[in-house]
Amino acid sequence: MKITIFGTGYVGLVTGTCLADVGHEVLCMDVDAEKIARLEAGEIPIYEPGLEDMVKANVGEGRLRFTTDPATAVAFGTLQFIAVGTPPDEDGSADLQYVLAVAETIGRHMTDEKVVVDKSTVPVGTADRVRETITGVLAERGQNLDFEVCSNPEFLKEGAAIEDFTHGARIIVGTDSERVKALMRECYAPYIRLQEKLMFMDVRAAELTKYAANAMLATKISFMNEIANLAERLGADIEQVRRGIGSDPRIGYQFIYPGCGYGGSCFPKDVQALARTAGDVGYQAELLGAVEAVNQRQKGTLFSKLVRAFDGDLEGRTIGLWGLAFKPNTDDMRDAPSRTLMEALWAAGARVKAYDPEAMGECRRLYGDHKELELVEDRAEAVQGADALVICTEWKAFRSVDFAWLKAQLAMPVIVDGRNLFEPEAVKAHGLMYYAVGRGDSL
Ligand code: UGA
Repeated sequence: MKITIFGTGYVGLVTGTCLADVGHEVLCMDVDAEKIARLEAGEIPIYEPGLEDMVKANVGEGRLRFTTDPATAVAFGTLQFIAVGTPPDEDGSADLQYVLAVAETIGRHMTDEKVVVDKSTVPVGTADRVRETITGVLAERGQNLDFEVCSNPEFLKEGAAIEDFTHGARIIVGTDSERVKALMRECYAPYIRLQEKLMFMDVRAAELTKYAANAMLATKISFMNEIANLAERLGADIEQVRRGIGSDPRIGYQFIYPGCGYGGSCFPKDVQALARTAGDVGYQAELLGAVEAVNQRQKGTLFSKLVRAFDGDLEGRTIGLWGLAFKPNTDDMRDAPSRTLMEALWAAGARVKAYDPEAMGECRRLYGDHKELELVEDRAEAVQGADALVICTEWKAFRSVDFAWLKAQLAMPVIVDGRNLFEPEAVKAHGLMYYAVGRGDSL
């Protein structure tokens, strides 16, 4: 099957590569010529485990190709996936300019029947706007070609995107057209097990499913963070509570890890966009507002704990930081809790010595010239002579620590752990002060 993907960002590149890997012929289009040139040379602009090898293999086989030419891209695929960004605009709603620009491109160059697939995370009603845009351009051209627009939201987690694409919980397709159903079945047919999880529904239901799923997961996290904060004040251990409630299959163990707040390019943006969509139709979404507010507060807890540990004075202190990415296995720092922390520390007159296994380049890009930031080579250097260690990301490489060694490195024996990596008793036994999230008297 011939497939065109518009957008070679995270979603577009993973989708295109995975579809090529099962034998489809895929052409990825991007307006960024430099990015396309690098991709053609097998250079991947993002960090995603396994993706680089897969891109190289499929480019080598000739199944995965790239272009910057819109006419070639539109002519190529029966399916035209839109997988471009939908960044939040000032009021928190999703900015659709890139999505609609692709719709316009498709309308401009189309010469035969196409199926347009919305893969980008877009507000309910966007498929209608894409359809109107294409119809408008076709009318300008004096053409009356048939086309369909369906919704096929993505559920990829950064760091596990290939696994999520190939073994996801479901594939959602919003359409009422039998032709589209048949084509989408063909597209996903090579994923034999996944195929059984193909769900057809109305376009609007599919669009809302995407936001509802992310908002539900974000709600679970904010709920746990709220209970963790309460547990701290009540002298209860949230890790025991987590195991206690997770054992109920109605609650489940997933996404109930308390921490220093959720970040990334999806949860913060999608919760806000859904609240905004609710507002647009005259509905005040109370819960979504609370999920967002709890998360904002949670991102500030690491700093609050440091303030408490240093009796309100962080001026001139050096804080060692392990983990900059918003979660492990990615170099993404969008809305990462580490950023809230570093910015608060700098405002309080403290210095930061930071290490992350993958996000150093990204951090340099964001804050490189900040005079109170030192990016160091490894986790050991980050703590040498530091007044405290703060952990923002639960990278595997941070999980095993010789606490006697750590104590010897630190000028002050303070650890603030935003990911609850260690057992408080084990840390404290080495004479370290340990401030975790929701772990009873660790406050
Ligand atoms: C999320 C969803 O999990 C994907 O299903 C979805 O496709 C994607 O957004 C998207 O809309 O594109 P992602 O943002 O990559 O994926 O990352 P997650 O693994 O969901 O983590 C999000 C944040 O929640 C991270 O900051 C993580 O540290 C935090 N988190 C996660 C917790 O604090 N506690 C948990 O128990 C789980």
